Amino acid sequence: MKVFITRKFPGEPEKILKAEGFDASVYQSEEPVPRNEFLNKCKNADAIITSLTDKVDKEALDTFTKCKVVANYAVGYNNIDVDYARKKKIIITNTPDVLTDATADVAASLILGCARRLREGEAIMRAADSINWKPSFLLGLELKNKTLGIIGAGRIGQATAKRMHGFGCKIIYFNRSKKENFEKEIGAKKVSLNTLLKNSDIVSVHLPLNEKTFHLLDEEKLKLLKPDSIIVNTSRGEVIEEMALIKLLKKKKIFGAGFDVYEGEPKINPELQKLDNVFLLPHIGSATIETRFAMSALCVQNVTNVLKGKKPVTPV
Ligand code: GLV
Ligand code: GLV
Repeated sequence: MKVFITRKFPGEPEKILKAEGFDASVYQSEEPVPRNEFLNKCKNADAIITSLTDKVDKEALDTFTKCKVVANYAVGYNNIDVDYARKKKIIITNTPDVLTDATADVAASLILGCARRLREGEAIMRAADSINWKPSFLLGLELKNKTLGIIGAGRIGQATAKRMHGFGCKIIYFNRSKKENFEKEIGAKKVSLNTLLKNSDIVSVHLPLNEKTFHLLDEEKLKLLKPDSIIVNTSRGEVIEEMALIKLLKKKKIFGAGFDVYEGEPKINPELQKLDNVFLLPHIGSATIETRFAMSALCVQNVTNVLKGKKPVTPV
């Protein structure tokens, strides 16, 4: 059975699949596979391992005539038309759990980076020939006793909250369901979205992107943020109306913002790059050696299970 892998991934999943007796091939690049080649290669594949830049839309799914499983090398699956895949009886899997801690580390890094103005400090040191210590130089915000609002208290949101609880933050969260264990463990309190935005010193966004969450944080909602607050996003750029946030940052209506994801990726809004009060990372939430290998292993496991007639480990 044929497996097509749309990029070179850490851990070389094609080798593991070949060892298991599958006819696995890989697009030999770390760059995205061109659309035509993607559709052509997928036509005869029994299984496909995709990355978040591959659009698995209706057109693509209609060409996947033999495909039984698409294993997405990401926890997010907004690149896939999951409803249409279900109609076509194609199983979709993702990579939850294995990237939770890595991504929460990046969310915490963005919070620290914004609060302590690490990016500005680092840039100054690269241009300086000595340290110019001054009492009011690069004053940031203390994290102890601050309120952290978690938007989306899933695995990554909770893991981020636990890290920041260790820094002395109080936790409030906005989520569909109440998270009893989370509340017990660190005293987190469930609130409405408006209450969260009005009361948080730090907001961290952890929602999947779908029709309900697209621009959930629009201009009107962002205006509720406190003037000394920080907002960071490690989920998907489109959950925030980015231009509205840029406006707030330009007018210094909030203290800072940290981004690992952007609206309209892979493009970046050049307005963001001009701002001092932002901390910008290139979508590296899951980019640790440990996690990226584990993501490959999980994709392989999902593909192998489905092709051998067993249940996938992490179906969407
Ligand atoms: C990365 O953005 C992922 O969804 O895994
Ligand atoms: C700072 O370095 C201090 O000693 O207070």
